[in-house]
Amino acid sequence: MDLLLIRFLAFLASFVLLLPLVLGQALPLHSSSRWILDSTNQRVKLRCVNWAGHMETHVPEGLHKQAIEFLANWIKQQGFNCVRLTYSIDHALNPSLKVSDSFTAAAAAAGVSVAAMTQLYQQAVQKNPFLQTATTRDVFGAVVDTLWRHGVMTLLDNHVSKAGWCCNLTDGNGWWDTAFGYNSWNSRFFHTTDWLAGLQAMAAWAANHPGVVGMSLRNEMREFLLQGSNGRKDWYDLVGQAGRRVHQTNPNVLVIVGGTQSATDLTHVYRNMLDTSGWPGKHVWEFHAYSFTVTFPNPAHSCAVSQREYGAFAGFVLQQGKAFTGPLILSEFGVGMTGGSPANHGIPDDQVAYLNCIVAYMTGNDAEWAVWALQGSYYVRGGTVDFDEGYGMLNRDWSAWRNPQFPRLLGAMWQINQGPY
Ligand SMILES: *[C@@H]1O[C@H](CO)[C@@H](O)[C@H](O)[C@H]1NC(C)=O
Repeated sequence: MDLLLIRFLAFLASFVLLLPLVLGQALPLHSSSRWILDSTNQRVKLRCVNWAGHMETHVPEGLHKQAIEFLANWIKQQGFNCVRLTYSIDHALNPSLKVSDSFTAAAAAAGVSVAAMTQLYQQAVQKNPFLQTATTRDVFGAVVDTLWRHGVMTLLDNHVSKAGWCCNLTDGNGWWDTAFGYNSWNSRFFHTTDWLAGLQAMAAWAANHPGVVGMSLRNEMREFLLQGSNGRKDWYDLVGQAGRRVHQTNPNVLVIVGGTQSATDLTHVYRNMLDTSGWPGKHVWEFHAYSFTVTFPNPAHSCAVSQREYGAFAGFVLQQGKAFTGPLILSEFGVGMTGGSPANHGIPDDQVAYLNCIVAYMTGNDAEWAVWALQGSYYVRGGTVDFDEGYGMLNRDWSAWRNPQFPRLLGAMWQINQGPY
């Protein structure tokens, strides 16, 4: 063969071999013991940032501030390898809604004027012209695909049923309406059949968007009053059904499962393991921890006590060789980005102890994480247009770090320092 041709073929071959590395991870991912591995059995540590898309507009936040391309590139440049992208069941079951119509409808849903929402929509079209003709699902597709072009993976998170801010015990999104102990405060929007159908729809859709590597079944499940008092039987039953449904529909994605009490409590699986045989090699646990969550009931708590609580309520799943062993993602944690003293790098003085404690905990176990949150603002939240997000990684213009010191405060959480073994 001609030397040039051989060289050319060798070049092509090396390019094909390197392609997964150039693009990101060698997919699909799977779980083995407490590790997430890629298709070549290399460990993948998820270092994610949450990006909200579950609010009344049914599209990811911030597109009136920046082009998707800018945001994907920023996320990649900071060292995140993944986004936890939130959506509602309202969106999952209504994918063909035009973005323009969605912004108009969001006015009534969010309690603000149509004129205000129209103005946001027009700003968004200026930054992202494709929105003019797009459906809300097209926008999710553009976000996921653009992230993946930058090598950034996506975890889809079903955050709520009814689109809007979440989560408390009276917002109607907390626990299944068909479960034992129905009360309308906590369940009036959480229709079990719609939830299963919505998860299935998103799983099927994700099959054509390879950047989606995982699906979280439901954010912050929380029982209220009598709910859960039957040994959390409904959690076992319905989480099991959902996991099987997602896996049958899309066998590539990781199936991510949180505990109860707003994703802070997995204690029940210590003795009574969830049947995960319907999604073999794909199971991942998730938990949440903020300065104000239920595992932090006492602000005078020492860090050692808090860390024992994190371990007892969720972290124990990382012990190897147990029925419950699995990877664990701290899929929400975060602090205010400004307002604290210089000695505390601007982090609010009453949240620094919590931050240092959770960082030390996560460094010690080298588990996966997703910080809350990318968004510097919301289109609309709590009746306020362009609502400022004080926990935002990005500033209100979505142009740069709100607190440039924050990424350093995560320390060795950025690194892999264990496993797989
Ligand atoms: C609970 O959340 C809903 C929806 O965000 C909100 O309307 C309501 O005021 C909240 N209730 C409390 C007690 O905070």
